[in-house]
Amino acid sequence: MTVLHSPSPLAIDPYGMDVLLDPYPFHDELRAAGPVAHITAHDVYAVGQYEAAAAVLGDWKRFSTTGGIGLADARKPGANFRPLNALLEVDPPDHARLRSVVNRILSPATVRGWRATMEHDAAQLVDRLLQDPEIEAVEDLVEAYIFKVFVDAVGVRFDRDAILAIGAMSFNQSGPPNALFHEAMRRVQPYLQWFEDSQRREHVKPGGVAWQFFLAEDAGEIAPGIASNLTRTFVRGGMDSTIAGLASTLMHLSRSPSQWQWLREQPSRARGAFEEGVRMETPFQVTYRVTTGETELGGVALEAGRKVGIFLGAANRDPLRWNDPHGYDAARITVGHMAFGGGDHNCIGQMMARLEAECLLGALLARVKSIEPAGAATWRPVNQMRTLDKLPLRLVPQ
Ligand code: HEM
Repeated sequence: MTVLHSPSPLAIDPYGMDVLLDPYPFHDELRAAGPVAHITAHDVYAVGQYEAAAAVLGDWKRFSTTGGIGLADARKPGANFRPLNALLEVDPPDHARLRSVVNRILSPATVRGWRATMEHDAAQLVDRLLQDPEIEAVEDLVEAYIFKVFVDAVGVRFDRDAILAIGAMSFNQSGPPNALFHEAMRRVQPYLQWFEDSQRREHVKPGGVAWQFFLAEDAGEIAPGIASNLTRTFVRGGMDSTIAGLASTLMHLSRSPSQWQWLREQPSRARGAFEEGVRMETPFQVTYRVTTGETELGGVALEAGRKVGIFLGAANRDPLRWNDPHGYDAARITVGHMAFGGGDHNCIGQMMARLEAECLLGALLARVKSIEPAGAATWRPVNQMRTLDKLPLRLVPQ
């Protein structure tokens, strides 16, 4: 009979400010603690090794999303939790039914159909920015681009301050009720009604993705109220993630002139450069599951009904899975990275995110001879995310 161990206790708080600003020493400790650790500060299990993370993501029967994908257990009375997400926080078979409708709406043909507009928008933006080549790339370049192309394609209302405050709320709310959470909740108050309204049929634009959700509701393919819930999910999840991934990719490329030159010679590798960017600085650092019963993972015994944090950012730098895991390599074969999750709930917007990245990087590669740091890049502490706050860059036109 196999002897099972208890999860190794880990005293470090993954939501401490020092960890949020530099998560890599914590990831080393987490992986070294074995397949499953017990984060004592929050009394949850945590996995950081690639193999263990893949096992959890791939097994919804033992590791369910129905307790919510944040730190708090949504099933417990008084939990610090928002309404559950109709797609992400539901198990099969209900999940599969809704996912097939969303997949049809977000089909490869639909995504391909956005390419010309995204290329055009990217070219226009880069041409404009090149008139004054020192930029703050998070706001001037990446946010400006994603806010334009995502909002147009999904067909939702836009207000920059509201969207930034809603993003901060969403991705701090999934952690503990710490100072970041309270500050985000304070900041979002003036926009909560705007956010509710923006999920209503009368505020989505005909022809866009959100509009298609409402048509699917009219056709009886999805239950009443689900179109609003999906619109809410897309507004919350689809922008901050791609902004984070693109900005990180640009940061790494700006630090490696030879890789920028290599990409300029083969711009078709732009997509791979983005995949490597999200592997290195995984935008959603952690997501949670709940154990559906007593179970075992890698020889460690797990109790029933316990939250398990899957530290995707740690798995994406596991030296047992990746050669030179801390080195950015635009030519790396990144297949299997977990920045887009895995298993049944893998990111449904990943084709869109890749297209957005290809179009923006393509516009830059065609026009910019070199891309250089013009000051220190700084990280923005967010409970669930790894995202740059500022990225000063100098773009040298060709
Ligand atoms: C770089 C950009 C992105 C990253 C890193 C990312 C990351 C992720 C991750 C890690 C998950 C799985 C969460 C879990 O299993 O707990 C996920 C799911 C999801 N993502 Fe993304 N995402 C990105 C872009 C997008 C975009 C552009 C959209 C919308 C167009 C989107 C919509 C969704 C949805 C709806 C799900 C839930 C899927 C399901 O439960 O079946 N994401 N994403």
